[in-house]
Amino acid sequence: MAEESEQGYTLQLSEPERMRYRMMAENARENEADLWEYSGIVPGARVADVGCGPGAVLVEIAQIVGPEGTAVGVEPGEPAREAAREELDALGLDHVEVRAGDGEASGLEPGVWDCVMMRHVLTHTGDDAERIVAHLATLLAPGGHLYLVDVDLDATRTSPPDPDIREQFERYSAFHKALGNDVRIGARLGALLRAAGLEVAEHQGSFQRIPALLMAAGGPLVSAQEAMIASGVLSADETDAWEAARQRFTSLPDAELWFAGFIAIGRKPGMV
Ligand SMILES: C[S@@+](CC[C@H](N)C(=O)[O-])C[C@H]1O[C@@H](n2cnc3c(N)ncnc32)[C@H](O)[C@@H]1O
Repeated sequence: MAEESEQGYTLQLSEPERMRYRMMAENARENEADLWEYSGIVPGARVADVGCGPGAVLVEIAQIVGPEGTAVGVEPGEPAREAAREELDALGLDHVEVRAGDGEASGLEPGVWDCVMMRHVLTHTGDDAERIVAHLATLLAPGGHLYLVDVDLDATRTSPPDPDIREQFERYSAFHKALGNDVRIGARLGALLRAAGLEVAEHQGSFQRIPALLMAAGGPLVSAQEAMIASGVLSADETDAWEAARQRFTSLPDAELWFAGFIAIGRKPGMV
């Protein structure tokens, strides 16, 4: 399944890719448990995930807030919305809404949300990032939190070092830069929150180890290929070589991908 959202973001949603999203979401819930709780993702809370993609993180949020709470996903791409709906229905989470919208026009009620999350979206949104964060800030209740997660693509590393994989990431990064996207947006998340009038409660960055198993399931080097071919920066012939290099690398016994990930949490001033 492939989709092109209104913003031109292309996401491929094969079953292995959906599995990869699920594993990433489970890891996030575990590794970020304290920050999620701090940000108000607790039983009974109202939480929105904007740019929810295939809904893997939304599932985790919905399980935490429970039936007494409200979890809503907002996503511009229809196939991703459908995938999210399937994911939620399969787990009996049919009270969770997945709605069409985007980061600048979510359609969500302003001023009432305990937490709004946006993960791995802003790096794809070019000059819109400031407007998106400003819109998301309007959604928060006083004392509510905006939880942003993003990357520094240029800091991606592999172990062992691999020139082929390195070249793929460099070309993927160059593709995004040519679209006007900020591939190093992770370090700017705190500034974006401040510009939206929020108090920065947290801004941290760290390398995350992605096991070869997850990289074998897909990821940006696979999901972006159609868009890269369409824009002429990757030839269809090269995709076989890319795939062969990815298979070779991920079948090495101790292969690891190291990804630079950032989390920033902004708090809306005011009493809870
Ligand atoms: C890499 S996926 C991340 C999905 C999910 N947040 C996660 O971390 O699992 C990026 C998602 O952002 C969506 N997206 C792209 N531009 C957007 C925008 N301007 N506002 C909201 N979502 C957007 C895409 O359609 C895609 O589903």
